[in-house]
Amino acid sequence: MIVLGVETSCDETSVAIVKDGKQVLANVVFSQIAIHEEFGGVVPEVASRHHVGKLTFVFEQALQQAQLNASDIDLVAVTSEPGLIGSLLVGIISAEAFALANNIPIIYVNHLTGHIYANYLESDFYFPIIALVVSGGHTELVLMRDHYDFEILGKTMDDAVGEAYDKVGRVMGLPYPGGKYVDQLALQGTFRYQLPLVYLDKDSYNFSFSGLKSAVINLINQSKMKNEELNLADLAASFQTVATTVLVDKTIQAAQEYNAKHIIVAGGVAANRGLRNLMKEKVSQLPGVVLTFPSFEYCTDNAAMIAVSGYFKYLKNQTRNL
Ligand code: KG4
Ligand code: ZN
Repeated sequence: MIVLGVETSCDETSVAIVKDGKQVLANVVFSQIAIHEEFGGVVPEVASRHHVGKLTFVFEQALQQAQLNASDIDLVAVTSEPGLIGSLLVGIISAEAFALANNIPIIYVNHLTGHIYANYLESDFYFPIIALVVSGGHTELVLMRDHYDFEILGKTMDDAVGEAYDKVGRVMGLPYPGGKYVDQLALQGTFRYQLPLVYLDKDSYNFSFSGLKSAVINLINQSKMKNEELNLADLAASFQTVATTVLVDKTIQAAQEYNAKHIIVAGGVAANRGLRNLMKEKVSQLPGVVLTFPSFEYCTDNAAMIAVSGYFKYLKNQTRNL
């Protein structure tokens, strides 16, 4: 079964073609990062306009790359939520037009399920699964007892972890989006600054990152006022250690409570090397538990993951009539 995926929920315009949920025949991603860089964040209306400008070209590129025609596509899968409403609308309308014109069924996919299913490109799924979804907009712990069965165990009460990374990066004067650069800097530093490690209730799978973010920003501002030197690499390492410790601890706790056979890390922050290393170390102490991350190109937003998620949703008969 050949699925064409469309993703425009934020600042990536992407169309992908995936066979049987496993084999990526094309994954074209046009990133708007350079466009939003001067504003230090995504400007929604600007994002929508660039999706409009690029999407037809990205559709054509994907078909060309896969060496397929529209008539070869069995299913169209499009991100329908969550995301920037204008950006989503561009992808949805284009996907619907393509599906209608070529008489192909269409399926609407939740973006976060796409992040989770990016892991299917790496490995089969072994249920029950605990999935840690960490992106610029979300931080969630999800229990999956079967394909397309999602139970949210916990989520952030305030900032998403990627958002905290990006704000910390901005205050440190790093390029946008800061997550990747804070990660690079952290690997050159050592844990030295005491920062708040927020677990909320002991039994809660919810997260909170705004206090941690503010503590880092306050340290930087205070040192500027006092004209004191801060070691930014050590500060990045301290921030990263605290942020990833909470993420990993809660994931392991959930894996033990629900007897998980498989732990999945998903979303843009799944590219973080501190998180990968700590998670590998802790999961190695849980006998028989499989751990997967998407490969780097499928951590951040892409349509391949939407095609995979759409494929599994289709197998569960969750299509909707146009
Ligand atoms: O999943 P994604 O592409 O978009 C959303 O759905 O939000 O995630 C983007 C987020 C950004 O906050 C970005 O800074 C963060 O992922 N990110 C990282 C790393 N690479 C990307 N954060 C920490 N370490 C990284 N290596
Ligand atoms: Zn995303």
